[in-house]
Amino acid sequence: MFASRRVSELPPYVFADLDARISEIRARGGTVLDLGRADPDHEAPPELVRALCTAASAPSAHHYPPFGGLDELRRAVVAWYQDRHGVRLDPDGEVLVLAGSKEGLFHVSLAMCDPGDVALVPDPCFPAYRMGAYFAGAEVVSLPLRPEWGYLPSLTAVPEDLARRARILFLNYPNNPTGAVATASFFAEAVAFARRHDLLLCHDLAYGESGYDGYRAPSVLQVEGARDVALEFITWSKAFCIPGWRLGAAVGCRQAVAALRDLETQVGGGVFAAVQMAGAAALEDVARSGFLTAMNETYRVRRDRMTAALRELGFAAPRPRATPFLWFPCPDGRTAATYAAWLLGRCGVALAPGTGFGAGGEGYLRLSLTASTADVEETITRLRKVGPEALRRAAPEGPAAGGVEWRRLPPGGGAKVRPGVPRRRPHGAIQPDHPPDALIGSL
Ligand SMILES: Cc1ncc(COP(=O)(O)O)c(C=O)c1O
Repeated sequence: MFASRRVSELPPYVFADLDARISEIRARGGTVLDLGRADPDHEAPPELVRALCTAASAPSAHHYPPFGGLDELRRAVVAWYQDRHGVRLDPDGEVLVLAGSKEGLFHVSLAMCDPGDVALVPDPCFPAYRMGAYFAGAEVVSLPLRPEWGYLPSLTAVPEDLARRARILFLNYPNNPTGAVATASFFAEAVAFARRHDLLLCHDLAYGESGYDGYRAPSVLQVEGARDVALEFITWSKAFCIPGWRLGAAVGCRQAVAALRDLETQVGGGVFAAVQMAGAAALEDVARSGFLTAMNETYRVRRDRMTAALRELGFAAPRPRATPFLWFPCPDGRTAATYAAWLLGRCGVALAPGTGFGAGGEGYLRLSLTASTADVEETITRLRKVGPEALRRAAPEGPAAGGVEWRRLPPGGGAKVRPGVPRRRPHGAIQPDHPPDALIGSL
C-alpha cells in the first residue's frame, strides 16, 4: 500500500523527531522538561467546564450542529469584536465557526487557491499556512521574517509578477514563533497590498489575548475597509486553555467566509453544540472575569525570569510584548536541530528547533512559557548547572555524548513512495521559484 505523492513528499515533521527523542529519554528513566510545545499548562476555567457540562446535559446538544456554527456563538463573537476591537460584524455573513483555527488556516488555501496560484507565506511561521497552500497545489512563496525588521515581512519586496499571481497572504501577530507584534501602520499597508492585488489577507490572531506591560494586540479588521479583503482567525485554545475542545472561528471578508463554509460543509460535521455554547460563555463571562489578566501575569513573570536567565547565560533572548514564546539564536554556527538535540541530551530540556517553522527559522530556538512555573524554574537551574561556557561551546555536530541518537524521520513519516512516479523536489513545492535571497536581499 502506498501513500499519495502529496503525503509521501511531505518534509519531515520536526516535532515528531523531538517527540520521539523525548519518549526515548523518558523510557530510559530520564526526566525531560518540555518547553518545546505550546500547550497551556493552566487548567481550563472551572466555570467554562461547568458551562460545557450544563450544555452537554441538554438532549438537543447531541445532534449534528448547524453548518457555520450556532447562532448563539456567532452572535457572541460579534459582540466580542465590537467590545474588544470596535469592529462591527454581521453574524450571518461574516462569522464562521471552525473545529479549531488550525483546520481553517489549512483549509482556507483550498477554498481560495487553484493549483499554480501563488500563496505568500511568512517564514518562519505556524506550519499550517504553508501546508494548506501546499496541499492546495499553490506555489508557496516565502516572505522572510528578519529580526532587523521586527519580524514583519517586506511587502514592497514581493516582485510584481508574483504579487499579481498571489491569491492569498498569511500574517500572524502577535507572532508564533518570534513573539513579534505588528504596528497599526503595517496592518494598514497589508490591507492596501491585499486590495491592490485582489488577494485574501488571512490574519491569524491566535495570540490576540496575550500581552504584557499594557500591550493590547489589535485586530487587522480595525483597519478601515479591511473586511473587504481580510479574514481573521481566532481560537479559544490559547486564551481559555482548552486546546482539546477544538473551537475556533474565521471572521471578516464575506466572500472568503462563504467559500470556506462551502468547503467545510463538505469536509467536517461542525463543532459539538455544547462546546459552542460554552465558547459563547467564555467570550461573555470568562473573558471579563480577570482570567485573561491573571494568565498574562503568570506568563509575564515566567518571561522575565527566563529572559534574565538566558541573557546571563549568554543567549541573545529578547523580551516579547506578547505571546508565550522566547525566540533566540543558538550559539554561533550551530544549526537549530543540532543544538536542540544537544540541549535535550545534555540538560533534558526540550526546545523547539526554529526549522520546525520553516527554513527561515534555521539557527533559532523557540522556548515556550506554557510549561509549568516549576518546569520553567527547573530549566533555569539545569541550564545554570551546565553554565554559559559549555552552553556556548556545545558540540557543534551530533548528539551530546551519551545521548540518544538524533534520528530524523523520513519524509512522510516513513510512508513508502509509489514506485515509478517521478518525485517532485521534496521541498520544491513549498519554496519560492526564485532564490529566497532575492527577497531577503531587497529587504
Ligand atoms: C499561531 C497559531 N495559530 C493557530 C494555532 C492553532 O490553534 P487551534 O487549532 O488550537 O485553534 C496555533 C496552535 O498552536 C498557533 O500557534
